[in-house]
Amino acid sequence: MTQPVTISTQDGIATVTIDNPPVNALSQAVRQGLAQAVQQTEADADVRAVVLLCAGRTFIAGADVREFGQAPQEPHLPDVIDMIEGASKPWIAALHGTALGGGLEVALGCRFRLAVPSARLGLPEVNLGLIPGAGGTVRLPRLVGAPAALEMIAGGKMVSADKALSLGLVDRIVAGDLTQAALEFAKGEALETTVEPLMARDVAQPDSNAWEAQKAAIAKRARGQNSPLAAITALENALALPADQALAKERELFFQLKDDPQSLALRHIFFAERSAGKMLRLKGVKPRPFDEIGVIGGGTMGAGIVAACLLAGLRVVMLERDDDSLSAGQERVQNTLAQSHKRGLIDADALARMQGNFSGATDYAALGTADLVIEAVFEDMAVKKDVFTRLDAATKPDAVLATNTSYLDIAEIAEAVADPSRVLGLHFFSPAYIMKLLEIVHPPKVADDVLATGFALAKRLGKIAVPAGVCDGFIGNRIMSAYRRECDYMLEDGALPQDVDAAMRNFGFAMGIFAMQDMAGLDIAWAMRKRQAATRPADMRYVDIPDQLCELGRFGRKTGAGWYDYSSDPKGAPDALVEGIITKASADKGITRVPLSADEIMGRIIGVMQSEGRKILAEGIAQSPEAIDVVMVNGYGFPRWRGGPMFMAGME
Ligand code: COA
Repeated sequence: MTQPVTISTQDGIATVTIDNPPVNALSQAVRQGLAQAVQQTEADADVRAVVLLCAGRTFIAGADVREFGQAPQEPHLPDVIDMIEGASKPWIAALHGTALGGGLEVALGCRFRLAVPSARLGLPEVNLGLIPGAGGTVRLPRLVGAPAALEMIAGGKMVSADKALSLGLVDRIVAGDLTQAALEFAKGEALETTVEPLMARDVAQPDSNAWEAQKAAIAKRARGQNSPLAAITALENALALPADQALAKERELFFQLKDDPQSLALRHIFFAERSAGKMLRLKGVKPRPFDEIGVIGGGTMGAGIVAACLLAGLRVVMLERDDDSLSAGQERVQNTLAQSHKRGLIDADALARMQGNFSGATDYAALGTADLVIEAVFEDMAVKKDVFTRLDAATKPDAVLATNTSYLDIAEIAEAVADPSRVLGLHFFSPAYIMKLLEIVHPPKVADDVLATGFALAKRLGKIAVPAGVCDGFIGNRIMSAYRRECDYMLEDGALPQDVDAAMRNFGFAMGIFAMQDMAGLDIAWAMRKRQAATRPADMRYVDIPDQLCELGRFGRKTGAGWYDYSSDPKGAPDALVEGIITKASADKGITRVPLSADEIMGRIIGVMQSEGRKILAEGIAQSPEAIDVVMVNGYGFPRWRGGPMFMAGME
């Protein structure tokens, strides 16, 4: 095996290069190489300063997460960083790509940090259920102050190079060649300037009111997750204890968290998100090019998909049935772009470019040059088939045609096209420019390169792609329908909507199923139930409480009432009328209501998710249990730190 760490020396400056693809993670061999580099450069009288840089796409992106399941092997990272910081010759970290976790901690052990403008820096351990374990919680507050350090460590978000410069986290941003600039810095400023190692510095005490408020906000956001709270504890230690003692405490906390089931769950999801989108049949298959996208429908979903594509730099034509609908759809898109600009996510040039990439039409002929068309019209088989028949006539014969249906039979839709191999499902989640999940649905006749194009689009849009076979609801909606049915059963058995919602929130969902239905509107599912009534098995338990609400015109928030009443409380208040309907429904069926505890409620919900998940696996709809977890976590609010229903099944 080639050495992942190499050293070369020129003009008194040693360059230590880490080359450990894909992301230069700090494996044992890298740590070993770095420790040797310190020894070698310390022993070499010709070396006056050391530049640390990385080959490939990024600076060190962190500890090697794959090693976390094994016993720690020497040399340990804190010791290696200690060696770098204690070296008699200044080390200069040259950052590009992402300097994350242990990577940023190594950079903090260096005397100076330079970064290219596109570099991003962060301590994302909290997202894996951890805190930095190699001095990050002790050194960072000494460099940028405790409030900024707490924000970075408990929030786990990356900061840009500009932000890092303003925080004092990097000393300089380098516009030109990074290696050259670092070498020049090493020969000049690094030798002329004396700065104290971070461990030797004091940490400023923050304003106590603001500090308390910041901690309270973080604790509230954590919603049951342990690692942000541990980050607070570590920062408190950094403020209260001498640096070496705070460091020892940080290590202790890190090891406790590493064995915490929450961290196992978060590491599971991290890798699941990266493996769920890989399909064996697509190995080596080249996607078709997709520079120009057509989107049919300018409603919330269509406009969201258009915005997602524009934000990713693609050219998009929106097609609507008439001028009024088109201008309403275009306005939705323009509003989203304007918001992104206002929030600083895109600059004025990018905004203008995206607006220039966007056009609208009411005639299918405008889709004649599109490479990929996504249909997002009303959920009705006849309407969809009509759209695909028109698309068949209007588009290039090799254009990829996608439907955004959330439960209709895509194989049947595909039959409206002469060549059904160019049809697939791209099931976006609303709002499509924000939600990360994309179910890529593969009907039996889809061509491999068409499917590969779906995955390539997902990557371009920054989405997490999960392949799904055709069935009613694919992976996510099918599981949601199953557990929603179970929640309806629980209403008849003895629970109230607020009991179920409270149990779900307590479990870690942002919102309960009934509050969510009120948000989405109860009418769509009502229409679907009416359509399905004829085919429903006669012996199937059927709960008509939601139908009764709909018959009263209670469609949720948009009508001021649904499961909850919104007339006096915008968050929704429990409603005696709903309770009356529920208790009467139980009585009518002769069910004696028995109150359900939060544990019982969640036991039934998770149990149904798991059993439906097993059916989905057995039918080949999902290709792995991980895929199901990724869908539930990224599309349905399942708490990430619990790893997903299938992960939980494996832990029982
Ligand atoms: N340890 C081990 N493997 C890692 C890793 C890490 N810290 N970070 C990334 N990888 C692997 C991924 O699993 C993936 O492997 P695969 O190609 O076999 O699927 C590969 O590196 C590329 O990662 P990916 O996320 O697909 O690339 P990207 O360019 O989209 O993102 C990062 C790169 C570094 C931003 C992203 O991978 C990331 O956030 N990594 C985690 C960083 C982290 O949490 N560090 C602290 C660890 S305590």
